[in-house]
Amino acid sequence: MLDKKVVKLLNQQVNKEFYSAYLYLDFSNLCYDQGLDGFGSWYKVQAQEERDHAMLFMQYLQNNGERPVLKTVDQPAVTPATVKEVLLEGFQHEQYVTSLIHDLYEAAHTVKDFRTMQFLDWFVKEQGEEENNADNLVKKYELFGDDPKSLYMLNSELSARVYAAPSLVL
Ligand code: FEO
Repeated sequence: MLDKKVVKLLNQQVNKEFYSAYLYLDFSNLCYDQGLDGFGSWYKVQAQEERDHAMLFMQYLQNNGERPVLKTVDQPAVTPATVKEVLLEGFQHEQYVTSLIHDLYEAAHTVKDFRTMQFLDWFVKEQGEEENNADNLVKKYELFGDDPKSLYMLNSELSARVYAAPSLVL
């Protein structure tokens, strides 16, 4: 049986991951609106990954005899006006999600819940990759974003991203 606080945080994470998907769809819509379809597509794929993360947390709860509790998904709390703001907000959001995963890990560690810690290991690594991806996007934009030709090429590069199912299977 899972600890009550751990269950609460796992449920909270389901909601946060769906929120992340919602936020990235909002980012995607802004990028499409500004004619940057490669950026829009990149964030749409990112939203699919976030939905997968939510599904994994739900599956983990179910595998441990807990019924997931679905709550309202908030409206995106930030309203970037430019693609550069989108990229900066995206990086900041991933840092926030990392802090949530670490809080969850700490709660599991406190009650010696080694099973949940092992489940979370994948997310700890995933967050490292997600922060890195988001940071790289910011850096690339800062390097090339002001030059229209370079921005066009960066947009084309991002359009190549394709959805891949998560490597974690429960
Ligand atoms: Fe599910 Fe981008 O963290």
